[in-house]
Amino acid sequence: MSNKKDEIVVGLDLGTTKVCTVVAEHTASGELCILGVGSAACSGVKQGMVVSIEETVAAITKAVEEAEGMSGVDIHSVVVGISGSHLRGLNNQNTIGVKGATVTEDDIANVLDAARAVDLSRDEEIVHVAAQRYVLDQQETIASPVGMAGDRLSVDAHVIVGAGTALQNLLRCIDGAGLSLDAIIPQPLASAHAVLSQEELELGVALVDIGGGTTDLAIYAGGSVCHTWVLPLGGTHVTRDISYGLSTPMKDAERIKIQHGSALVNQVDADAMIEVPSVGGRPPRDVPRLLLAEITEARMEEILDLVGQEIQRTGLRRHIGSGVVITGGGSLPPGTVELANLATGLIARRGVPVGLTGLTDLAATAQNATAVGLARMALTEVARAGAGQAGPKGLARLTSWVKEFF
Ligand SMILES: Nc1ncnc2c1ncn2[C@@H]1O[C@H](COP(=O)(O)OP(=O)(O)OP(=O)(O)O)[C@@H](O)[C@H]1O
Ligand SMILES: [Mg+2]
Repeated sequence: MSNKKDEIVVGLDLGTTKVCTVVAEHTASGELCILGVGSAACSGVKQGMVVSIEETVAAITKAVEEAEGMSGVDIHSVVVGISGSHLRGLNNQNTIGVKGATVTEDDIANVLDAARAVDLSRDEEIVHVAAQRYVLDQQETIASPVGMAGDRLSVDAHVIVGAGTALQNLLRCIDGAGLSLDAIIPQPLASAHAVLSQEELELGVALVDIGGGTTDLAIYAGGSVCHTWVLPLGGTHVTRDISYGLSTPMKDAERIKIQHGSALVNQVDADAMIEVPSVGGRPPRDVPRLLLAEITEARMEEILDLVGQEIQRTGLRRHIGSGVVITGGGSLPPGTVELANLATGLIARRGVPVGLTGLTDLAATAQNATAVGLARMALTEVARAGAGQAGPKGLARLTSWVKEFF
């Protein structure tokens, strides 16, 4: 069953550090109106993949209840994000003959179906098909060719595939929380749809969502996605390094990172000291803040260097006209923008969700980019499918694999 009011969607982000729920609807002017936000710490997900169904279900239940209380909406179904380094993006082109003389929605569905014919290895499933561009009788069409006359319809598509077991476990969590699934969307795409401007999408941009356990990359050029990639490293690795490096418990390392961390050593006062709790009953010590910055910088540099290498490897760098946008909680240490600049050679900025009304303050944070983006992508698809089409019917194009999967 879908949510009470058909134009309302719920984005559910199962992150490595927290579950975040965003309840939203479209305003008349096309903005995203945030009706409720819920968040709950979660240790049931590691590197973007579910490792404990029980813990994840408990966190989903908590985050959903909080969002229900805030929005007054009874939540029955959700649009959920998927991440993990098992995700793999590839591009292909497919052509079909148009059935009648005019392109219909059915022809679009057929050509997108044809795009699903990719080589899958054992246990892989298609997670998402994003149309990049349609070509009708050798003539490129800008948006949708529906209603145009033509014989042969081609689509360039970005197809994202992932491990079937990871999808199964995700679905078990949704089911375990008593919810039904409207759609599954890869997290890198969701974050991109929350924080990027239309100009950036057109000019070409690399979106980097540094989370707790993963760093998601999505490269857009000419308005559509052409590369996705997930690196199993994030802010939790920074915290772990600090915990080891400063011999302090993880929870203290996390607090110290947030209070005093910096991703650039040269931005830190050379004389500053911080008090660091010890382990095993040893007394706390005063440690140079510079040491903390060295540890943070080393890991952040590794992450961003790997992102830079991946951008280089794709050969898409020259198509990235507007630069890099970093988001996610892991992007928050001061100096990360400068480091991203250095590591990728592209102009970087930090991004938070934009184009929001309603409970903006709660939703417009780097940590909530994925959940907001999930809601936005679903509402955009609902608007395309026609009024009152929230739920699996209106989102059929986003979720067609679910049918096949079972
Ligand atoms: N102010 C801050 N300064 C530095 N790091 C921060 C700050 N706030 C949050 N973080 C870090 O952000 C990370 C969590 O980010 P986020 O909430 O985006 O991850 P997630 O969505 O749970 O994980 P993932 O996307 O990897 O599945 C943690 O490692 C946390 O330490
Ligand atoms: Mg995340």
